[in-house]
Amino acid sequence: MQSFEYYSPTEIVFGKGAESKTADKIMKHGGSRVFIVYGGGSVVRSGLLGRLQNQLEAAGMPYDSMGGVQPNPLMSKAREGIQQALDFKADFILGVGGGSVLDTAKAIAHGIATPDVDIWEYWSGRQPITKTTPVGAVLTISAAGSETSNSAVLTNDEIGKKCGTNTDLNRPKFAIMNPELTYTLPPYQIACGTADIIMHTLERYMTHTEGNNFTDRVAEELIKNVMKFGRKALANRKDYEAMSELMWCGSVSHTGFTGLGRTMDFAAHKLGHELSGKFNITHGASLTIMWPAWAKHVYMDRPERFAQYAEKVWGVNSGTVEERARAGIRMNEEFFKKELGLPTCFSESEIGVQDESVLEYLANMCTANGTKKVATFRPIDYENALAIYKLANR
Ligand code: NZQ
Ligand code: ZN
Repeated sequence: MQSFEYYSPTEIVFGKGAESKTADKIMKHGGSRVFIVYGGGSVVRSGLLGRLQNQLEAAGMPYDSMGGVQPNPLMSKAREGIQQALDFKADFILGVGGGSVLDTAKAIAHGIATPDVDIWEYWSGRQPITKTTPVGAVLTISAAGSETSNSAVLTNDEIGKKCGTNTDLNRPKFAIMNPELTYTLPPYQIACGTADIIMHTLERYMTHTEGNNFTDRVAEELIKNVMKFGRKALANRKDYEAMSELMWCGSVSHTGFTGLGRTMDFAAHKLGHELSGKFNITHGASLTIMWPAWAKHVYMDRPERFAQYAEKVWGVNSGTVEERARAGIRMNEEFFKKELGLPTCFSESEIGVQDESVLEYLANMCTANGTKKVATFRPIDYENALAIYKLANR
């Protein structure tokens, strides 16, 4: 186990009716003028937005709202929100939705704290984020884990580049988590969310750090639990137990807890972000395409780790280490495809098989034209990225 620091300051309010405490929590965390951010309309249709606005009015808290955040959220939309929130003189940002809304809320929070800096400076890594505004989250989908994570992911729509920035200043002050708010999710989003939750732990699991420890057991059990309740949620999206398990695991999976004491990888995320940046493919589906290709490409770098995964999560007990490793990858891929109904290669998705030039473009975008390597299990350079995209391009 490597040395680590663990910081997860987000206050969690979990359970039925949790959103009734939103105004109290905003006040507790110093907010008085609230800028609400939401997506394409699901929270309008469900009545959640109206209930929250009424609550703020009853609490005497002025608010302004901005809807229209799209999945794979755009930097231009965040800039629009920054301007609106500055005009309103907001001192608190409330995201009501999923990862796309919450990441936009985080960007607005940073943007209004430092209005002289364009936020791409932060996402491009040219400047560190040093100051922000408090953010609260009312979660409506179990997936990205943004409600407690240190991460925020945006697409720079001027150049088609999707990327994240990680800082503890991205951690929301509180997260309101009522599983009933996810009852209206389309099955595709439940499936993509289930895949994303699994991947946030699995990408922390594939490591060269020695050890077979508590963090491993937590990770394995989380993945098994998410598979079990992902199936149940797909069968019945009003299953409170299933939606609760997905919601809580979604947060735990991305606070960092399931990777403590080891180096994490995140190659499939980096490779997948390029697919989303170019084709606007849903985040969870980008992962179910890229992870099997990545795993097949790198598993021989440490087959015993993949074999451990196969044994503990998939119950594979026979065969050589390499055979067990391959069986685990295959079973995981089949779960994505057959049980979640998600694509595991380009041709199973809306983008279809691509020309070599597109694969080269993706590999260049992922590695800054071959000048940098991403991830850690195998640092992915241009040649590796291209090889992995080729494996997925079937
Ligand atoms: O926009 P609306 O109308 O609200 O509809 C949304 C959207 O179409 C819908 N939805 C959400 N809650 C609903 C609902 N529909 C019906 N009923 C509800 N209760 O679901 C669709 C997807 O929403 P989105 O916010 O995009 O989902 P998700 O939470 O999966 O977020 C994905 C984004 O988060 C990023 C991804 O890259 C992607 O851009 N990530 C953020 C991370 C973070 N900040 O820590 C980590 C992740 O790895 C990920 O990269
Ligand atoms: Zn993710």
